[in-house]
Order: sequence, then structure tokens, then C-alpha cells
Amino acid sequence: MPVKFRSGENIPLEMHKARMVQNLNLLPVEDRVKASQEAGNNTFLLKNRDVFLDMLTDSGVNAMSQAQFAAMMNADDSYAGSETFYRLEEAIKEVFSTPFFLPAHQGRACENIICQTFIKPGQSVLMNYHFTTTKAHIMRNGGKVVEIVRKEGLEVTSDLPFKGDLDIGRLRREIETTGAANIAFLRIEAGTNLIGGQPVSMANMREAVNIAKSAGILTIFDASLLSDNLYFIKQREKEFSGTNKSIKDITLELGKMFDISYFSARKLGCVRGGGIITNREDLYNAMIGLVPLYEGFLTYGGMSVREMEALAVGLRESLDFHIIEQTPIFVEALVKELLGANIPVVTPAGGLGCHVNAFAFCDHLPQSQYRAGSLAVAAFFAGGFRGMERGTISEERNADGSERYAEMELLRLALPKRVFTLSQIKYVADRLVWLYENRNLIGGLRFTFEPKILRFFFGRLEPVSDWPQKLAQKFRKDFGDSL
Ligand code: F0G
Repeated sequence: MPVKFRSGENIPLEMHKARMVQNLNLLPVEDRVKASQEAGNNTFLLKNRDVFLDMLTDSGVNAMSQAQFAAMMNADDSYAGSETFYRLEEAIKEVFSTPFFLPAHQGRACENIICQTFIKPGQSVLMNYHFTTTKAHIMRNGGKVVEIVRKEGLEVTSDLPFKGDLDIGRLRREIETTGAANIAFLRIEAGTNLIGGQPVSMANMREAVNIAKSAGILTIFDASLLSDNLYFIKQREKEFSGTNKSIKDITLELGKMFDISYFSARKLGCVRGGGIITNREDLYNAMIGLVPLYEGFLTYGGMSVREMEALAVGLRESLDFHIIEQTPIFVEALVKELLGANIPVVTPAGGLGCHVNAFAFCDHLPQSQYRAGSLAVAAFFAGGFRGMERGTISEERNADGSERYAEMELLRLALPKRVFTLSQIKYVADRLVWLYENRNLIGGLRFTFEPKILRFFFGRLEPVSDWPQKLAQKFRKDFGDSL
């Protein structure tokens, strides 16, 4: 909860306390350089024991509540018809009001089932913006991704409160020119991940869904990042802020609005799992056969019953404003610190994490030397925290082998829900400010091993010069013996 200090500064006070902790390790800067080398200068390949703050993702690493842990002890282990499943189904009905639920082991498993069921080769899928796994599943099924996020969504800095909104004019034009029969579905992603965790407004979702439905197009909601989006609707949208409309009211409306919603429970609900929910029995019946085929029987879908019990509690907890506000207000605090030092970041602050604009941060590097990848590595040298490259390395090459440069070169520093403290956030900001002051020492990277698909996961890179050693020497000079 933000509270005002005597200085007038707003502080994102933690409304929880740690009752179980995990020790962390902060290696000396020289060892951070060495660990990065061993990991092919790819933050995905670092060993977690060499990482101080793991800001790679929030997926499956959010803090769980004591009520969630308590619920895990009350699980009913059974292949079929487990009580746990019915309790989870009940929680989903309560939160979203949707009568039909298919469990899956994680978000991309839901995408697999949805895309296999509803995409015919050659059809388009309209969406505000893609997520990596979503795009891969659509393409595997012969579909085409058509992104219609409003143009400000792709601008790094803005003061627009809902940068994830769809461009309604483009939506109408796409339907007119493509024809409803050639559109598999409209997909709206809450808390639009790849453009910096940017929310979508309720007004925009209502309008887009109405247009699609009246053209007879199926509507699908990716609710993986819903809890941040709920916070922003309540906080930033006139119809909801300062009124008695609750997070629960907003969630119920969304549950009713879309034909199908799905989520990664590694994010929504703070466990490890996923699910597809729908209002329509015909759609449920169309998908049902793929669940036992890919996931597991219909009453567990690849999840452990313990996770399912914790998910039921986690979904109910995601209706609590003080729980869901914690990530966005921490992101805002980090963004504010960085903006104060003129560091280029995505604005306004969104959910999920802080997104540093590597394109501008490393503007002395050619884009062919991977600015976001280089910044990810340099940030690990500077502070032992690892973020995720969300730029050209995350793209795949064009068919002719040339680089496809990303629309944005970002370093994502994810803030798993209720995991880090404010002093850790301040530490990250401090080391990034130091790095920004020394950014001319950051050099580029080149691939030594470049897989054809998903190169960002497994690819290995090397620095184009001895810049990591020079950066480490400067760190020693400035910080002495400090870690
Ligand atoms: N949709 C969105 C919006 C996501 O952010 C993710 C995962 C998925 C679908 C897939 O879910 O991982 O459970 O299979 N995002 C993670 C991230 C990986 O780091 O942002 P999953």
C-alpha cells in the first residue's frame, strides 16, 4: 500500500511479512563475469546459485500465501473425480462465473489445445499483441498473427494509461478486408507482456468483443497477467476508480464477456498450472478430447492436486486489492528511481516488471550486436541480478538468414509477486544508475552457438571484445571491496 513519508515521498509499503525465507548469494563482480561466460552470456543459462536477484520472470516463482500452503495439505489425490478438482471448479465459478473448466499443466498447454481446436490453416488470429508461445502455437497450426495494438503501444514512452488497448478502427478494417470466415478468433491479452506489461481498458475490451461477436468471431482472453490488469482498471479507468465497483465485479464482467478465457497459473494464482474456462458447452466439448491426450485426465490436467488446492485459494486472493497492487506499486517505484536518473524505461510503469529501453541505453552499439542482450549481461555484471532479453535475440531470423530486428529492444526486470523487498529494489536501481553512467564500457555480443528455433533459450554468445573485464575493473575502482 503506498504510504506518504514525512518527506512527502510515496513508499510502496509491503502489506505482508516473510515467514519462510531462502538465502541468497551475491558473487563478487569478477565471479559474475566468469559465471556469465560459462552460461554463454545468456541469462537463461545461468545457474540460479550464481544469481543474486532472479528477475528473469515471475512465472512459477511468485510468493505463495500461508492460506495456499495450508490448502495444499488438504488435497484429494485421485486420478479421476478428485474432490480437489471440484473445489477448484467451484472457486473458478465464484471468481469468473464461468461454468466450464478444463485444467492444463501451464499456459502454453492451453494455447496448444485452443489453437489446435479453433485454427484452420490460412486463418488469421487478431490480437492486441502476441506472446512468444502463443505465436508459436498459432503458426504451428497454420494460422497467421495479426497485431492490432494501438500505435502508442509500441512507443517506449507515453503517458497513455492503457497502452495494451486494441486499435478499434483497425479491428473493423481487418474484419472487413479479411472476412470473418478467415479469422479463427480475436485474442485479447491482459497486461500485454511483450510491450512492457501494459494493461487493456475495460471499455476497449467491451467494444472489441462486441464488434467481434456481432461479426460471428470467437473471442478469447489470455488472462495470465490479469491481476496486474485488474489493478490498473480499478486505478486508472474512470468508470471504476473511486467508485464502489470492486475487483470482483470487474473480474466477473470479464469472465462473462469472452467466449473462452485461459491462463497460466504460474502467474495468475501464484502456483504452477493453467486452465481454460468457457461459458459455452459447445466450445468446451470441442476442446475436451485434447486434455487427456496432452495433459492428463479431466480432473487434474497435468497439475498436482496440491497445486490445484493452492490455485483455488490463489484465484480468490487475486480479488484482494492489497495483494494485487503490490507488484505494480513496486514496478512504479523502480521506474521512478530510474527515470530520476534519466535512464530510458518503458512508461507508464506497467505490471510484471520494469522494462529498460536497451535501444537507447546502449545506443553506442550497432543493433547487430544485440543491445538488449548486451545490457542483460552488463546488468548481471553490475549487480548480480538477471533480467530477460526481450529484443532481437528473442526474434527468429528471416527466411533468407538475415536478422529480423525487434520492434523494441528491452531488458525486462521481472518482479515476482511479493518476493523482493524495497531495499533490494533500491539496490537494483543503484547498480543500474552506475551502469548507465558507465554505459560506454558496455560492448556487444555475437553468437557462438545459434539454434534455429527459440535461440533466446539455448543460444550461446561471446563478447566482441574484453569489455566485461574492463567493466569489472571499473566496478572495483568505484565500489572498492563492496559486492
Ligand atoms: N500468455 C502470457 C501473456 C504469458 O505471459 C505467458 C508466459 C504465457 C501465456 C504462457 O504461459 O509459461 O505457463 O506456459 N509468460 C512467461 C514469462 C513465460 O516469463 O513472461 P506458461
